[in-house]
Amino acid sequence: MKIYCGKDYKEMSRIAAKIIAAQIIMKPDCVLGLATGSTPVGAYENLVEWYKQGDLDFSQVTSVNLDEYRGLSGDNDQSYRYFMNKNLFDHVNIDKSRTFVPNGLEPDSGKACSEYDGIIESVGGVDLQLLGIGHNGHIGFNEPADEFCKGTHCVDLTASTIEANKRFFEKEEDVPRQAYTMGIGTIMKAKKILLVASGADKAEIIAKSLTGPVTPQVPASILQFHNDVTVVCDEAAFSKLK
Ligand code: GLP
Repeated sequence: MKIYCGKDYKEMSRIAAKIIAAQIIMKPDCVLGLATGSTPVGAYENLVEWYKQGDLDFSQVTSVNLDEYRGLSGDNDQSYRYFMNKNLFDHVNIDKSRTFVPNGLEPDSGKACSEYDGIIESVGGVDLQLLGIGHNGHIGFNEPADEFCKGTHCVDLTASTIEANKRFFEKEEDVPRQAYTMGIGTIMKAKKILLVASGADKAEIIAKSLTGPVTPQVPASILQFHNDVTVVCDEAAFSKLK
């Protein structure tokens, strides 16, 4: 596991963006596994800037996102599809028909999940998977559980995740209670993983995930078993790592 520590959010975002850019340069037709949440926004801003300067070309890139709220359509401004369009896809030359996000509007969860697993398989798997981390150690929307889930599945969001995500909604009742998420098995199959974290509120879970016991109660702890993980955080998020 490689760990890079930037002094603040800005520097951390730049380091993360450089790793994603390197992937695109080394393999222009790569499959990027992308993430939402506030942490990757700065990295996406850097990628957009470098694209505009002519230093990056997304024309052959395929992307698969980690997760989507169940029940939200892509044009709902709280959906993760909307987030991806707004923060990245609308500003670079990626072919939108090759950007995939689970279908939040599919009410049949078995169908939504198996279709998404089929898409990930058909694009040949993920070359570089970007991950944020929840305060309880969730990655994607894989919440603490009794076992690690393999493929895409429908999850009931925990109270702490609903609490953390309510800042993006008008009222807490508006936060969807369920989501479709890539499974831990799929995340672990990515060739490379890039985990980003920022802020003192993530310090404890970062230390626990990277150095504590590997357990489905701390989903991100499984990353200790992946052989190509890069962690990029700022000093605050790094502060409890020994
Ligand atoms: C959401 C997303 C996760 C993300 C997490 C942390 O729950 N499903 O993919 O990692 O939030 O978000 P933030 O970066 O805003 O702390």
